[in-house]
Amino acid sequence: MSQPVIAPDHIPADLYDVIAALCTTSIEVAGIIAKGPLGQSLGSLVGENSDGDGQKALDVLCDEMFTASLTRESVRWYASEEQEVVNLLNEKGKYALAIDPLDGSSNIDVNVSIGTIFSIFEAKDDAEASFLRPASEQLCGGYVVYGPQTALVVTFGAGTQMYVLDPEAEKYVLTNEKMSIPATSKEFAINASNYRHWVKPVRDYVDNCLAGVTGPHGKDYNMRWVGSLVAETHRILSRGGIFLYPSDERKGYENGRLRMIYECAPIAFVIEQAGGRATDGETPILQRQATTLHGRIPLVFGSADKVTRVAEHHNMPAV
Ligand code: F6P
Repeated sequence: MSQPVIAPDHIPADLYDVIAALCTTSIEVAGIIAKGPLGQSLGSLVGENSDGDGQKALDVLCDEMFTASLTRESVRWYASEEQEVVNLLNEKGKYALAIDPLDGSSNIDVNVSIGTIFSIFEAKDDAEASFLRPASEQLCGGYVVYGPQTALVVTFGAGTQMYVLDPEAEKYVLTNEKMSIPATSKEFAINASNYRHWVKPVRDYVDNCLAGVTGPHGKDYNMRWVGSLVAETHRILSRGGIFLYPSDERKGYENGRLRMIYECAPIAFVIEQAGGRATDGETPILQRQATTLHGRIPLVFGSADKVTRVAEHHNMPAV
């Protein structure tokens, strides 16, 4: 008998088929991405999603591929960043699955890591109510990063596991059964071009990082910004650090840029299960709940002490 696409050991039995379907489709996606310009045109703009973000050909293709494979599984409700409303896939399905089929799509054409992010809840009878609930009710959160290696990082609430795709065998192989975010790191990730728009606590925190050995952190920092949430998450899970996408007063940035259901909730679940922290600046993301399907929320995550420091800045009296 051939080996399954992923070993079942760390996956709750009821969810196994859904995860296996995600894995199988992600292997096809990885193959398409790896062909780049030798295959079909992936990076061309084909429209806008419900939020007015540009949709690339690969965004739409991935959405169709995941929809098709999950329809055969126990997924009742499918909410995608690429679609305005929740889709009914299998009325007998037990689960509600939210997905950003292809995150970081501005990086497609420049051969930089991109990914798929997903989150699973128990389905309720009402489509939207299945997703508009506390992030702590997730049964599973995870992502696939399509980079130098394709890797799946996933949590079911008992630690965070990493699997790396063996492209020849077309199987995901467990490489870390309990990921742990290193506490000591000198890297922060933020889109520094937004500096003048940031709220004071964020500016103060970053100013302290920039002050290096002469500042209150007492050490020099490096800054990293890929512009691809999965790539940033994978780096921070692997070697520590902090990521910030704060809110500011500009139109479209009032709640940061990242979506609660498709991005922040699953990333927060993965990070917290690896011993890190994820907040909106102050409050844990897992205590927050989306109020609209495509709503955004500020996101700060990474090594626990660093995220705590940012929260302390928010709690300081304004001067
Ligand atoms: O959600 C889309 C996304 O591309 C994330 O992957 C990434 O973290 C962020 O937006 C990039 O933002 P900016 O355009 O400010 O660099």
